Amino acid sequence: MKHKVAPSILSADFANLQRDVEMINRSEADWFHVDVMDGVFVPNISLGLPVISAIKKHAQKPLDVHLMIVQPERYINDFKKAGADILTVHLEASIHLHRTVHAIREAGMKAGVALNPHTPVNTLSEILRDIDLVCVMSVNPGFGGQKFIENTYSKVRELRTMAGNVETELLIEIDGGVTLNNYAELLEAGADVLVAGNTVFTADDPVATIQKLKNSSHSILT
Ligand code: DX5
Ligand code: ZN
Repeated sequence: MKHKVAPSILSADFANLQRDVEMINRSEADWFHVDVMDGVFVPNISLGLPVISAIKKHAQKPLDVHLMIVQPERYINDFKKAGADILTVHLEASIHLHRTVHAIREAGMKAGVALNPHTPVNTLSEILRDIDLVCVMSVNPGFGGQKFIENTYSKVRELRTMAGNVETELLIEIDGGVTLNNYAELLEAGADVLVAGNTVFTADDPVATIQKLKNSSHSILT
């Protein structure tokens, strides 16, 4: 399966959101990555339900919604109504994670679980069959444009092995600090979905940058 690229709307120009959504529509990107922050789970506040509904009106690709909020189980149906296709909650914010991921699936969305950089991947061992995606945070969540944490590679490799052992169809997503210099090594380690905010939206040619991120034949030596 060819890997997916999900540009992060967090780095878009919010005053020109329709323009940026249309740029992603015409690019080779696979999903829209949408970061929701509550100012409690993470030290930043980003966007919420009305903005997701507005994006949905123009988006021609699935919305991959990443909840960085406490008690995410309270809002599952609201995010479904707003247009989320994949809904990811943080393990660290979910006391009854098993119940929450099943509620996400029952609402008709793919269920994802995100792990902060300090959270070991083996915390997911009892729940791997119940989820569709693991979002491995490669920065501390809260802001775009941060530096990639190198320990991520070994987490991805371990997760790939764990997923192989239970023969589950699991997508491994990398979120934070993905660049044209590290994406190929992440794919080598076993990543399926690359989230990229800063790398795409600060580029002179975002469409061409997305195309480069889609090109897995890029050598890790170049
Ligand atoms: C960080 C967010 C990321 C962020 C990534 O908390 O979850 O999705 O937008 O941005 P870059 O690619 O700029 O690190
Ligand atoms: Zn994110």
